[in-house]
Amino acid sequence: MLLTGRIPRHIGIIMDGNGRWAELRGLPRIEGHRQGVERSKEIIEISAELGLKVLSLYAFSIENWQRPSSEVTTLMKLLELYLKKEIEVLSKKDIVFKTMGDTQRLPEHIQGIIREAVDKTTANRGMVLNLALSYSGRNEILRAVKKILRADMKPEELTEDVFSSYLDTAGLLTPDLIIRTSGEMRISNFLLWQAAYAEFYFTDTLWPDFTKDEFLLTIQDYQQRERRFGAISVRVDAP
Ligand code: FPP
Repeated sequence: MLLTGRIPRHIGIIMDGNGRWAELRGLPRIEGHRQGVERSKEIIEISAELGLKVLSLYAFSIENWQRPSSEVTTLMKLLELYLKKEIEVLSKKDIVFKTMGDTQRLPEHIQGIIREAVDKTTANRGMVLNLALSYSGRNEILRAVKKILRADMKPEELTEDVFSSYLDTAGLLTPDLIIRTSGEMRISNFLLWQAAYAEFYFTDTLWPDFTKDEFLLTIQDYQQRERRFGAISVRVDAP
């Protein structure tokens, strides 16, 4: 498929439906997560090829800590395997690896692997892969507020831009498009501040079935949208 229009600069994805994908096949839920990781690799690769500036993937929410500990442990193991195996691939593709979220809650050894991956890719110049881990938008906003209070800032110094610079996404463009798979139509605490002017795309497809082709169709759909950001005339980029 040929994409002729403008490519969104930042896409965020709520990768939902791994569990249902597995249950529909009579498989353990973890098989769905395993397939989900494979899908993520494919979407990361095509996103970098298309020239996206940022791809944010919602991999593990703060709410996900409430899942049975066996599922949490297996998800952490998958994350560890992914990072250990893929960091070379990301490096070769000039991708910058970043995370957002309350990552101090992650097991110590995973924090170490994350630091390594961040250090190893920090000088890259290509797409930023921003993985949301132990993330929720409200928690991110609250942590930003606490940092601002500690910085002893005067109320009149606090602008939207200053506030944004205290969020985990500091320095990243705001999302143009947010995709959610699996038929659920809600934001589930993802990029709450940053999504103010994002376009949304919901699909019934479960994440392990979300192919490159559907991703390209999603971008094509986005390219038909008229973005006005509250004004009358069409603007191209999010403020
Ligand atoms: C939702 O499925 C998905 C998650 C909880 C996150 C898991 C994400 C992955 C395994 C991909 C991770 C990607 C990388 C690059 C490490 P669900 O369990 O909520 O599905 P359900 O709603 O059908 O139960």
